[in-house]
Amino acid sequence: VPQKQPYRTWYHFQPPKHWMNDPNAPMYYKGVYHFFYQHNPHAATFGEKMVWAHSVSYDLINWIHLNHAIEPSEPFDLNSCWSGSATIIPGKEQPVILYSGIDDKKHQVQNIATPKNLSDPFLREWVKHPQNPVMTPPIGVEVDNFRDPSTAWQGKDGKWRVVIGAQNGDEGKVVLYQSEDFANWTVELNPFFASDNTGVCECPDFFPVSINSTNGVDTSVQNQSVRHVLKISYYRRNQDYYFLGKYDNGDGNFIPDVKFIGTSLDLRFDYGKFYASKSFFDHAKSRRILWAWVDECDTRDHGIEKGWAGLQCIPRQVWLDESGNRLMQWPIEEVEKLREKQISIKGEKLVGGSTLEVSGITASQADVEVLFELPEVENAEFLDESEVDPHLLCSEEYVSRSGIIGPFGLFALASEDQTEHTAIFFRIYKTSNRYVCFMCSDQSRSSLRENLDKSSYGTIFDIDPNQKTISLRSLIDRSIIESFGEKGKICITSRVYPSLAIDKDVHLFAFNNGRQSVVISELNAWSMKHAEFDQDQSIYQQ
Ligand code: FRU
Repeated sequence: VPQKQPYRTWYHFQPPKHWMNDPNAPMYYKGVYHFFYQHNPHAATFGEKMVWAHSVSYDLINWIHLNHAIEPSEPFDLNSCWSGSATIIPGKEQPVILYSGIDDKKHQVQNIATPKNLSDPFLREWVKHPQNPVMTPPIGVEVDNFRDPSTAWQGKDGKWRVVIGAQNGDEGKVVLYQSEDFANWTVELNPFFASDNTGVCECPDFFPVSINSTNGVDTSVQNQSVRHVLKISYYRRNQDYYFLGKYDNGDGNFIPDVKFIGTSLDLRFDYGKFYASKSFFDHAKSRRILWAWVDECDTRDHGIEKGWAGLQCIPRQVWLDESGNRLMQWPIEEVEKLREKQISIKGEKLVGGSTLEVSGITASQADVEVLFELPEVENAEFLDESEVDPHLLCSEEYVSRSGIIGPFGLFALASEDQTEHTAIFFRIYKTSNRYVCFMCSDQSRSSLRENLDKSSYGTIFDIDPNQKTISLRSLIDRSIIESFGEKGKICITSRVYPSLAIDKDVHLFAFNNGRQSVVISELNAWSMKHAEFDQDQSIYQQ
């Protein structure tokens, strides 16, 4: 009954019921995409005995849920099987999972699991290695803050390397381990990465990106045509940050281009709700794909009431921007298979203060792409960065205030009278030495319901003074909106829980609250079909 579950998504990945957090060990193996995730099989809240749930897919959009792959059972993981990653050993073509166990003493240790039967195309059963645990907390790492092994990579010397998230007091760390045989691991004394006053670094992800191509490369690739990315999930901030840098195999060090400073200048994959992300290399299509957990912004009690909590983002392709200074992201092309019923708008002028309804699609589940034509950016209002932190501009009520160029954008998951809406918008400013665009997702009017986290998210990016257009794509799916500004330069994901804008009562509008007109040079929107989520025939009754 749709009214009972207005927030359950149609095409974002979620388990049949109960709690989900981090994506674990995404991989492509012999024609099948595997996805594991942190799951509490007993409730819609985080649990004392977390398991690895497992689903498979041929296209990363339609999924088959399988039995759990890894569950607490041994002294080395008796109190939970926490996050980890997969590595496919070349030559043997064998996938190996490294995961964190919470052991019988509640210490965090790293364990190995491998498929029981490589000829089962779904790799349903996993066997824990006899040498587990293969890593225990080293000196200088707290026993309860040592977790989340990354995918391993092989150095030019043939040795395997893997990074693990850690903490020592206030210092966040990423520690590096090496192995010749993938079973016996030794820790490097110097941390691979460290940051003061951040607390634990969770879910480190380390991977190369091509300098001249949007194609991805396998995790072990090291040559002149790649740069490296280290991603950290900072637990205290509940946000994922990434660092581009140089990985020099000579001394095994990673040298980030810039340090983490803890301001809005640090780079993030997504400026909204997006955590514990993890990437993998998809051999089938030579691309690197990123997954992330998108948590609820609703209360714990409401999660219990609805019987589930947590979503995953639509997998995103990631690549290095032409500038070489940041990453770009775009929803994988397969999501477009769900598009049906397209409507288009061309050359429509949005004068200051106007809204335009985008009708004719199911606005509760939609994919919208819009290209806005800007007025002369020279006319933009002045922003004194020494007086105002531009990032704080995206506060409540901001959207209703009029500017010169912008705010303009979309009202998504809106009620007919717009009492409820989530505003995703741009606003252009000039500063003392450059032009900037501000992109924001404002949830403050997303619902009449109270006790929701309706914080707004936003960031700024530089634009060219000759810039004529700006683009926005939003994937709307009942209680999630993933927005991609400027072809994937800036991403903002939000969770919203409308009380009026539900099912058939959901509307979509384009709006312009700036004094100058903007033109919708092109808008295409599609209704989105349900993705298929099936249960494997051989699933055990739970
Ligand atoms: C990140 C995290 C990981 C941990 C897992 C437990 O959200 O806290 O550090 O392995 O979740 O579910």
